[in-house]
Amino acid sequence: MIPRELIRKKRDGEPLSADEHRSFVAGVTDGSIPDYQAAAMLMAIYFRGMTDHELSAWADAMLHSGDVLDLSSVHVPKVDKHSTGGVGDKISLPLAPAVACCGVAVPMVSGRGLGHTGGTLDKLESIPGFRVDLPVERFREIVSTVGACLIGQTERIAPADRKLYALRDVTATVESIPLIASSIMSKKLAEGIDALVLDCKVGTGAFMKTVDAARDLARTMQAIGAAAGKKVTAVLSNMDQPIGRAVGNALEVEESIEVLRGGGPADTRELTVALGAEMLLAGGVVTALDEGAAAVRRVLDSGHALQKFREIVAAQGGDPRAVDEPKRFLPQAGACLEVRAQRAGWVGSIFSEAVGMAALVLGGGRRRKEDMIDPSVGITVLAHIGDRVEKGMPLALLHHRGDDSADDAARRILTAYRIVDEPLPAVPQLLLEVWR
Ligand code: URA
Repeated sequence: MIPRELIRKKRDGEPLSADEHRSFVAGVTDGSIPDYQAAAMLMAIYFRGMTDHELSAWADAMLHSGDVLDLSSVHVPKVDKHSTGGVGDKISLPLAPAVACCGVAVPMVSGRGLGHTGGTLDKLESIPGFRVDLPVERFREIVSTVGACLIGQTERIAPADRKLYALRDVTATVESIPLIASSIMSKKLAEGIDALVLDCKVGTGAFMKTVDAARDLARTMQAIGAAAGKKVTAVLSNMDQPIGRAVGNALEVEESIEVLRGGGPADTRELTVALGAEMLLAGGVVTALDEGAAAVRRVLDSGHALQKFREIVAAQGGDPRAVDEPKRFLPQAGACLEVRAQRAGWVGSIFSEAVGMAALVLGGGRRRKEDMIDPSVGITVLAHIGDRVEKGMPLALLHHRGDDSADDAARRILTAYRIVDEPLPAVPQLLLEVWR
């Protein structure tokens, strides 16, 4: 196989054979195909898409680039959740411990920040000592004894996605249905789960900006899951404004802890409860959604889910004191800057992708794949869609390092907000559709 020939073929719109896809993914995984050729292929796929046959071969090659775990030694249902990516989307953090308290194990292989969206792994790593690069044996042991474990792609689990994901993050090749679907499903099918709940985001902060595109992505992932004999529930949820108030790694951990204490912003709790209920239903430990929702609310309000999060943090090498005193034990940014409304009115819309990019420019995301992120920086979103604002009122608070990045981020936030003269007839509905 000569990589250049396959890239050219794809670039020119000719479908690749299953063997060609397999050898390209194998070359990416073993390093014989360098980053620049992999990135060129990603861009060709971005523009040309893939036929169903191609996607099935590519996704299968990505899944089998590593091991498929056998978790049959875990004697409770195993269900995971994955989001297609959003801004302020910290739901996995309260969700995994809450669901684990309700009799379903959560073996979760997550990702880092991708494009303008944050990543569960980067968020968790803001807890001092927390390790997301555990060996498979330890992952299995923590899932079995604690009930949930959250790690990243490894040399053994979805290694092809580990490489391609990092490249897509910095090469503007994320917003592609075949690339997103294969990235997500190659990790999820490697986990040894019985069922999967997908949170398919749609709106200004999502990769899919329209409901039709999000439906397409959901259908594509459900088809990959069905071919592997897995039950996949797809929830379509609104991503037209950041979830909760916090955008940025340590800030989002802190907000997740509020949810685990039974509080937190209403939308963040609502999504946690709704997705948790779907996971319990998919795992067969409840027979009705209401029953699942009540179970999740109970463990959030009782402190059980918080205790489970402490256990997960400790098992993964993190400092559990960060769970009890986040302001003291999580990294804090050195400086703050208010971004103020330039006119009075109502918040008509928020271009949330720009809010995600503002967090990235503050240092919370990567410009190059080698970059280290700063876990302390981020944004507190103070005005949401439908809110009344007066001229000079703060729309957002930037947590920054005292450098020029704050000015760039402030400009991005200001352009993200559209202030209108009339109140909105209705604020966006959070949960849009569910396909079981
Ligand atoms: N999450 C992933 O794991 N991959 C994507 O491509 C998008 C979201």
